[in-house]
Amino acid sequence: MQKTSLAALLLVSHFSMQLSAQELSDVQDYQEWFGGNFMLTDLIDAPLGYCLDLEGYASTTDTSQPVIVHTCKEGFWKDGTWRVNYPEQGQVYLPEYDLCLAAAALEHDAVVVLAECSDAPLQQFVFQDSGQVEVLSDSSEKFCLAVGETSRPTGANLRRQTRIANCDNTEAQYTHWILPAEDAVYTDFATFDAGSTAPRVAGGGAPGGMGAPGGMGAPAAGGGPPGGNLFTGACSPCHAPTANGIQTEFAPKLTGQEDWYLTRQMNNFAQGLRGGNEGERWATQMRHHAATFAAPQIASFVSHIRSLEDVPAPVTIEGDISRGEEFYVSTCAACHGFDAMGNEVLNSPRLAGMSDWYTVIQLNKYRVGMRGNHPDDALGMQMAIFAKALPDEQSVLDVTAYINTLAPE
Ligand code: HEC
Ligand code: HEC
Repeated sequence: MQKTSLAALLLVSHFSMQLSAQELSDVQDYQEWFGGNFMLTDLIDAPLGYCLDLEGYASTTDTSQPVIVHTCKEGFWKDGTWRVNYPEQGQVYLPEYDLCLAAAALEHDAVVVLAECSDAPLQQFVFQDSGQVEVLSDSSEKFCLAVGETSRPTGANLRRQTRIANCDNTEAQYTHWILPAEDAVYTDFATFDAGSTAPRVAGGGAPGGMGAPGGMGAPAAGGGPPGGNLFTGACSPCHAPTANGIQTEFAPKLTGQEDWYLTRQMNNFAQGLRGGNEGERWATQMRHHAATFAAPQIASFVSHIRSLEDVPAPVTIEGDISRGEEFYVSTCAACHGFDAMGNEVLNSPRLAGMSDWYTVIQLNKYRVGMRGNHPDDALGMQMAIFAKALPDEQSVLDVTAYINTLAPE
C-alpha cells in the first residue's frame, strides 16, 4: 500500500478529467494494492516456471475464460499479479479486475474461473504448508488447485489449463504452489538461467535478442511475415491494432510518429533509459516488452507502424489555448517546430495530432524527474529542462491544449 507512487498519483489526477468514476476507481485500485506472481513450484517443462494468468493481455484480456498458467512474465502485469487472503481470508484476488479465483465445481477436472468475490464456498481456499491450495469443503475427498498434464506452446511461451484435482491422487508437480508475497511485485527471476532458454519470440526469425526473460511471445504470430503479425500479438493489445493508442492502457498513439523517434524510444526502453522508476508500472511493462526484441524486429515494428493510417488522436485535454500558445512559441517551438510536427535534426518528436493525455503524462514525468533522469539519456535530460520551465500544472494543460490546435486535418 505504501507503493502508492508519485507517477500513479499524477496519472490519477490528470485522468480524473476524462475517465468515468468506474474507470477512475479501477486506476486507483491498481495503484493501491500489493501482490505478486502466483507460481507453480515445479517448473515442469517451462524454464521460467508457470504462473497463474488469463487468456489475452492488456486490452484483450478475457476474464470470462478459464484461468490458465503461462510462462511467468518478468515484471508487473495486470493479469498476473495476485493477492491471497484478500478481500477475505481464504480468497485469491486479482486486484486489477476486482475478481476472485473460484473452482467451477467441487469435482476432479473441474475448471478454474474468475468470479465476483463473494462468500461462495468454491472461492474459499486453504493454503497448506505443503504448497497445496485446497478448496475448502467438509467432504472427505479433498480437491486442490492444479494444472493440466499437457502444455501448449504460444510463441516461445508455454501454457496449461488450470483445473481442480484430487489432492491425494494427483502428482505433486501439478498441485504445489508458491503464493504471491504480500510485498513483492516481481518474482525473482534471477534464480533461473534465462540465457539458456529458446528464442523468446515466434514468427520473427531472429531470437529474442537481449535475453529478457518472460517475453510475451506473440499470441497471434505463427510464422507469417514479421512486422504485421508480430505487431498484432506483441503491441496491439496495448497500443491498439490501428496503433492509435489505448488510453486506459496508458499506451500512446504511435502512427504518424517519425521512424527515428520510434526506434530511439524502443531502444531507450530496452536499455533501461526509460520506464525504470519505482512506481512506473505501465512504462515498466513497455520496458520489459521492448527488451524482448532484437534490432531487426524493432525495425519491422517501426515499418509496420509507418504502413498504418495516421488518424489524428481525439482531443481529451482542455486548457487556456492563448496562454498555452505563449509558452509554446517562446519555449517549445524552436525544437519541436512552430507546427509541432517535430524536427529530426534536433531529435525532437512530433507532438501535434498525437495522444494529448500522453503529452501531459510525459511532461509531468519530465517535470518530476521520472523521464530524462537517466545519466545516459542526454536528450531526455535536455527536454526535462524545458518541461521544468513550465511554471505549474495548469501550464502543462494549456500548452497541450494549444498543441491540439496544430493537429493536421
Ligand atoms: C503492456 C502494454 C504495452 C505493450 C505490450 C507495448 N507497449 Fe509500447 N508503450 C506502453 C506504454 C504504457 C507506453 C508509455 C510509457 C510511458 O508512459 O513512459 C508505451 C510507449 C511506447 C513508445 C514510446 C512512444 C513515445 O512517443 O514516446 C513506443 C515507441 C512504443 N511504446 C512502441 C511499442 C511497440 C512497437 C510495441 C510492440 C513491440 C509495444 N510498444 C508494446 C505499453 C505497451
Ligand atoms: C532544446 C530542444 C527542445 C525544447 C526547447 C523542447 N523540447 Fe520537447 N523534446 C525534445 C527532445 C530532444 C525530445 C525527445 C527526448 C527523449 O528522447 O526522451 C523531446 C520530447 C518531448 C516530449 C515527449 C514526446 C514523446 O512522444 O515521447 C514532449 C511531450 C515534449 N518534448 C514537449 C515539449 C514542450 C511542451 C516543450 C516546451 C515547453 C518542449 N518539449 C521543449 C527537445 C526539446
